Amino acid sequence: MEGAAIVRGSGHNGGVSTTSLPSPEHAAELRGALLSAGFTADGLLDLLGAPAYAALARSETVPALRATRVGGDGPLATLVRLFLLQQPAPYVHAAGALPVEAALADGWLRREGDEVHATVDVRPYGGPDGEDWFIVSDLGCAVGGAGGIGSRGREPGTAVVLGVGGASTTLAGITVRVPVATALDLGTGSGIQALHAAHHATRVTATDVNPRALEFTRLTLALSGAPEAELLAGSLFEPVGDATYDLIVSNPPFVISPGARLTYRDGGMSGDDLCRTLVQEAGAHLNPGGYAQFLGNWQHVEGEDWHDRVRSWVPRGCDAWIVQRDVQDVTQYAELWLRDAGDHRADPAEYQRRYEDWLDEFEASKTKAVGFGWITLRRTDAPEPSVVVEEWPHSVEQPLGDAVLAHFARQDYLRAHDDAALLSGHFLLAAEVVQEQVGAPGAEDPEHVVLRQNRGMRRATKVDTVGAGFAGVCDGSLSAGRILDAIAQLMQEDPVVLRDRTPEAIRMLVEQGFLEPVSGPAQRSAP
Ligand SMILES: C[S@@+](CC[C@H](N)C(=O)[O-])C[C@H]1O[C@@H](n2cnc3c(N)ncnc32)[C@H](O)[C@@H]1O
Repeated sequence: MEGAAIVRGSGHNGGVSTTSLPSPEHAAELRGALLSAGFTADGLLDLLGAPAYAALARSETVPALRATRVGGDGPLATLVRLFLLQQPAPYVHAAGALPVEAALADGWLRREGDEVHATVDVRPYGGPDGEDWFIVSDLGCAVGGAGGIGSRGREPGTAVVLGVGGASTTLAGITVRVPVATALDLGTGSGIQALHAAHHATRVTATDVNPRALEFTRLTLALSGAPEAELLAGSLFEPVGDATYDLIVSNPPFVISPGARLTYRDGGMSGDDLCRTLVQEAGAHLNPGGYAQFLGNWQHVEGEDWHDRVRSWVPRGCDAWIVQRDVQDVTQYAELWLRDAGDHRADPAEYQRRYEDWLDEFEASKTKAVGFGWITLRRTDAPEPSVVVEEWPHSVEQPLGDAVLAHFARQDYLRAHDDAALLSGHFLLAAEVVQEQVGAPGAEDPEHVVLRQNRGMRRATKVDTVGAGFAGVCDGSLSAGRILDAIAQLMQEDPVVLRDRTPEAIRMLVEQGFLEPVSGPAQRSAP
């Protein structure tokens, strides 16, 4: 990124100044010092203890502050106070923890008399294989929302850059992690998605409308020992031209809000237009077989089915899997984001005005509620794309990237197999599926039988006796048709009728991952 207006957070109040961000020049040296001091996710847990560590993730610093007092003036406690708790440290203590002169010269620290202060938040972050990574962000907004400080950075070039929030880790967790040549992180912020991508992509491009974010991404990558990324400033896909990628990820500024106050969350387009545009344009930037994965919000508009709304966003040539994880009515939604910005702590009249603005906007667009969820596209160029739009608000097993891959593999299988082919197919009951029977206590027969997964999406589905019996014997050795014939015999049913009516249920069990197709007769190896 050339010629960006580079500015940095200037302290506790989170205002921004026009001085430059730290230079990554001696990042390797600094990284070495942080690691030798034990300034890692595990080291923090040891020093702070679980409650204070967890409190930090909720942006509560008091328990950690108390814990570092017990930790004394050692290097780890000093680093925690400086980079996580925004406390000044005596120069001599800092000198015992890191190459202080280089850190001052490069701008990681600033000196005031005998004390030094951090200029940025540096937060240990454990990678998927136990890597010790660091996320660099503006002071005062490392976790979750900006709590009011973001509202001061109105211009895209001066807007604050947040650290890792729940949305960031959710996206990182659902991302498909297979080795790829090229990956794009759109709206990179602190660079967390780019950092993950650098782990399995040969070349990573990170973009952001806020040039400061690109500088933070550079620092995050350098301090984490990751390769440099291509950093491009600009909105949505504009900075990448017509480049295409194997993987595109974005945790975009998806909040549907009146006005574009906060660059990190308000896309500045009306309603859910930013998410729609992102999804619609992604298809043209995917290589064949490539994945695009986004978090998003969408409007629930009076008289319109939300499924149809998001389905209409899916670009030509792409399969899609869209999962609505949560829905909030417009009042809950407005309150959530008013709080995120710290507006609830502002003057009550101002809070009321902002709240009204929000509700006015929703009223004008006939929006009743807002959905939040995950959108995954896969470019297949299939003549009949598979577009699954569903609601699954229950807990899932993270990371979920492999489950996402498996979902699309199953769609390929189902597309290629008509009912006759399904009946001659062989299936394995997926690992850790259990059967639950629901009914009145003491009753002889259950009212219904539920199959439940303990892995991946942790789905549950109601099945009838045939479905339960069928799933139970799927060990890959017999074809589906042969199993049905045996069940028909047992239940004294007409096998032709059973073969006729069951493929739909088999299709559903395969689609939802309860049954896994195997290429031929197979014997289950597990007990
Ligand atoms: C919610 S933050 C996500 C940051 C980071 N990727 C993560 O997962 O934590 C959204 C980011 O998108 C950037 N952004 C806002 N509007 C944008 C636009 N029109 N085009 C590209 N990036 C944008 C913001 O500056 C911010 O860094």
